[in-house]
Order: sequence, then structure tokens, then C-alpha cells
Amino acid sequence: MRTDVIVVAAGSGQRAGDGIPKQFRTVGGRAVLRRTLEAFLGQPGIRHVLPVIHPDHGAWCAEVMAGLEGVLPPVSGGATRQASVRAGLEALAADPPDVVLIHDAARPFVSARLVADAIAAARLHGAAVPALALVDTIKALTNNDFVGSGPDRNSLRSVQTPQSFRYDLILSAHRARIGTDDLTDDAAVAEAAGHRVAAFPGDPTNTKITTPEDFVTAERNAALELT
Ligand code: CTP
Ligand code: MG
Repeated sequence: MRTDVIVVAAGSGQRAGDGIPKQFRTVGGRAVLRRTLEAFLGQPGIRHVLPVIHPDHGAWCAEVMAGLEGVLPPVSGGATRQASVRAGLEALAADPPDVVLIHDAARPFVSARLVADAIAAARLHGAAVPALALVDTIKALTNNDFVGSGPDRNSLRSVQTPQSFRYDLILSAHRARIGTDDLTDDAAVAEAAGHRVAAFPGDPTNTKITTPEDFVTAERNAALELT
């Protein structure tokens, strides 16, 4: 059973600010993208890790990847996350894996447990995502200032990456959406193609770096790792 990982890193990190895209900034002295790639390298069952990057970020990426073994040469992503994932999937087609994990570069704290569960869930169900119960109550806005009723929190989950799939399933689901690339995760692509997506337990420490405040939290998490 061959398992490859696509790490999508082709975004520009607008919400995080700062001149350098967030995946190339350091946390605890190591670039976010390097941390993310290293989290997968050497995990049992992983064959290759493929970064998908913006074509203008090649020099930053080469610097960040220096000396890492098991990482494939990066491929260029697209204008949306969905387009970037598809570029990664197409790049694996010449020597296809059985299972593919699709992960955001912006989640550097992915654990070995999550990687193992993602692989197992894809083998069992064909398509699977890590999911967490919500802590906040969700409301719909009736207009800009007033809240209406919200859905029952017990039925809701917040979904993370790595999302895991049988490679042939997710490749054909992505190909079916050519021309409409507005979906923000791969579970939605699989669902749009008619597949059922299983949920397995996510990890609260597997946070996504999105805003400047998230770098503060990430530095704290990185410091804890070293102690
Ligand atoms: N991503 C990508 N290609 C894109 C857009 C996003 O590969 N065209 C990647 C990002 O690099 C990130 C992941 O998808 O690792 C999740 O996206 P997000 O957190 O939204 O990152 P950005 O799009 O870079 O940030 P922002 O939306 O704030 O600009
Ligand atoms: Mg984005």
C-alpha cells in the first residue's frame, strides 16, 4: 500500500500579513513549511511528500527544503486551494499512490497519531477527514447586527487536514470539477462527486496558522515541544 502526501503551500497568506507568506516564516526557529514537511517524513507508511507552491516562491521553498530527504520536487499550484490540490494530484499520476493525504502547509503541528489515523481511515472508507466537536455556539446572522437561530452544536464538527482519500477516488472527483474551483476543502470535492466522507478524531493542537495572533500561539506551542 503506497501512501503519498500533498502539502499545499501555494497561498499568499493575506490574513497573516507580514511581507513573507506565512508558510516561509519561522516558528521556534524553523520555517512553517519545513516543520510541516518534517512532520510527515519518516512516518510509517509514507512514501513521498509533495509540496505545491506558488511559482514565484521557488527560492524561498528551496531554502526551506534544504537537506530534507523524501520530498519530491515542488510543483506549481493555482489561484485557489482547490486548483493547487489538483495540480498536486496530477503530478502524482505518473507513479500513483494507493492513498493520498492532503494537508495544509499552514498546519505545522500535525501529529504522528493523526497521520496514522488518516491513512487507516482512507483504507477503510475511501475518504476521511479529522473532525473536532465545536466549543462555541454557532448563530446565523439575520442581518448585520442581529443573530438568528443556529444549528444544533452537537451535530456540527470543525474539520482539519490531513484529509485522506483513495487516490483514484479523489483524482477523479477533482477532475470532475474542472472549471469550478471554489471549494475550500477536499471533503467537499469528494462529496460533490457523490462520495461519503468518514470522520475520525481531529487534534486540538493541529491548529491552522491564519492570523498574526496565530503566530503567537504557534511560538508558544513550539516552545512547549522543546521542553
Ligand atoms: N493554498 C494553496 N493555493 C492557493 C491558496 C491556498 O496551496 N491558491 C494553501 C495555503 O498555502 C495553505 C492552505 O492552502 O497552506 C490553506 O489556505 P489558507 O490558510 O487560506 O492560506 P492562504 O490562502 O495562503 O491565506 P489567506 O487566505 O489568508 O490569503
Ligand atoms: Mg486562503
